[in-house]
Amino acid sequence: MKNYNVFFFIIGSLLAVSIASCVRSIEKVHSPELRKLDPKLQGVRKCFDNDQVNDVYTWENKRKPELIDYYENYIFGKRPEFSPKREFTLLAQDTLVVEGVSMIHKEVEVVFKLNGKRRKCFIAEFLPLDIENPIVFVGLNFFGNASIHPSLSLTQTKNYVINNATLQTERHRVTEASRGKKAYRWPLALIVGSGCGLATAHYGDFDADVYNGFFDGVYGLAQSYLHVRKRNEWGSISAWAWGLSEIQTFLEQGEGTKNSKTVAIGHSRLGKAALWAGVTDERFDMVVSNNSGCAGAAQFRTMRGEDIQKITKRFPYWFSKNFRSFNGHDSLLLVDQEMLLSLIAPRPLYVGSASIDAWSDPEGEYLSFYKAQAIYSLYDSKCDIPYGYPSPNGVVQEGNMAYHLRAGEHEILAWDWERYIAYAKNRLK
Ligand code: GCU
Repeated sequence: MKNYNVFFFIIGSLLAVSIASCVRSIEKVHSPELRKLDPKLQGVRKCFDNDQVNDVYTWENKRKPELIDYYENYIFGKRPEFSPKREFTLLAQDTLVVEGVSMIHKEVEVVFKLNGKRRKCFIAEFLPLDIENPIVFVGLNFFGNASIHPSLSLTQTKNYVINNATLQTERHRVTEASRGKKAYRWPLALIVGSGCGLATAHYGDFDADVYNGFFDGVYGLAQSYLHVRKRNEWGSISAWAWGLSEIQTFLEQGEGTKNSKTVAIGHSRLGKAALWAGVTDERFDMVVSNNSGCAGAAQFRTMRGEDIQKITKRFPYWFSKNFRSFNGHDSLLLVDQEMLLSLIAPRPLYVGSASIDAWSDPEGEYLSFYKAQAIYSLYDSKCDIPYGYPSPNGVVQEGNMAYHLRAGEHEILAWDWERYIAYAKNRLK
C-alpha cells in the first residue's frame, strides 16, 4: 500500500511539473523586455519601445531590424552564418523546344564544401535564346527537376519526396514514371516565351521534408553533428530559403544572367520559403507568394484555416522550437503577417491566393496584403489598396503591391504565372 502511495506521489509530481513547465513555456517564451508588451496593441508602424514609424529611416533602421530579429527568434529560427566553397559543374546543356518555344536548358551540379563536409544540389535553368540578362524566376520544386518537364536531360532527384500517387513515387523516391508530371505547375513555354527565365532546384537538396533531426541537408554542412539545437534555431523553411539564395548566387556567376533581375517564387510551403528568402536576402528584386497560407501570407489572428497548433503538430521541423510554444495561443505572437510582407518593401510583392483554398485562408492573405500598405506607403504616397476582398479572379495591383484571387483550389497554374510574369515585366523594367 505504502509503495503505491509513493508511486502515485511521484507520478503526480512529475505531471504537475510538466504541466507547470508547459504553462511557463508560453509565459516565458518571449525575452523579458518583450514579455511586458500587450500583443493586442502591436502594429507594423509601432516599435516594441512604442516609437511610431512615420518615415523610411525609422522603418529601415529600427522597426525592420527588430521585426527580422523577432521572426528569427520566435518563428523561422536563426540560421548560423556559414559560407561553403561552391563548385559548379555543367551536366547538360541543350536546346529544348516546349510547345513551339525554343529555350536554352542547363543542368548544373553545385557541390558545397565546408569543413571536410559536402552537399550537392542540382539547378535547372531555362533561358530565352537571344535575351541577355532576362528577368529570372527563382523557385524550388517539390519532386525534383525532372518532374517539371519530361526531357531526359533533367536530373531525377534521388532525395526524399512526399509520396504522391499521380507521380507514382515509391517509398518516398521519384520513379521514371514521375518525369514531367508536374509540368503544369511550371509553364516553360509561357515563362520563356514571355522573355523571362526560370532557375529551379529540388527543395530536398537543401533539407528533406521529414522530421528526421537536424543533421542532414544543409544543417549537416553548417553545423557539427554534436550540435545541440537551441529553441531559436532554424528549421526547414529557413533551409529552403537558403537554397533559393544559393540559386541567386549561381545566377550572379552564370553566363547570361549576371545582371538579371530575379523574382523569388514559391507555392504553398515553398511560398513561405520564398517570402522568408525575400526578407533575408535583398538580392531578390521581387517576391511572389502563391497560396502560402499559415506562416506565409495569411494572418495568424483570423484563426481560420490552418493555425500554429495545426502546422507545428504536422511540421514541427519547419520552424524554430520557440514557435511551438504559441500552439493554441496565436494571438500572443507580437507579430502578424502584414509585418512579414512589409519586410519585402519597397520591392515588388505579389500575393496570389485561390478562392476555395480555405486551409490557406485566402481572405486572411488579403488582409495581410492590405495591412502591409502601411509600410509600402512610406515609400510610395500614392499606394492605396482597397479594403474589400476581391471576388474570384479579381486582381488588385497598385505600384509595387499586387494581389490576385484565382477562382479555384490550392495550386499554382498558368493563370497565376501569366499575371506574375506580366507584373514582373512591368515593375522590373
Ligand atoms: C500542408 C500544410 C500547409 C502547406 C501545404 C503545402 O497543407 O499544412 O501549411 O502550405 O501543406 O505545402 O502544400
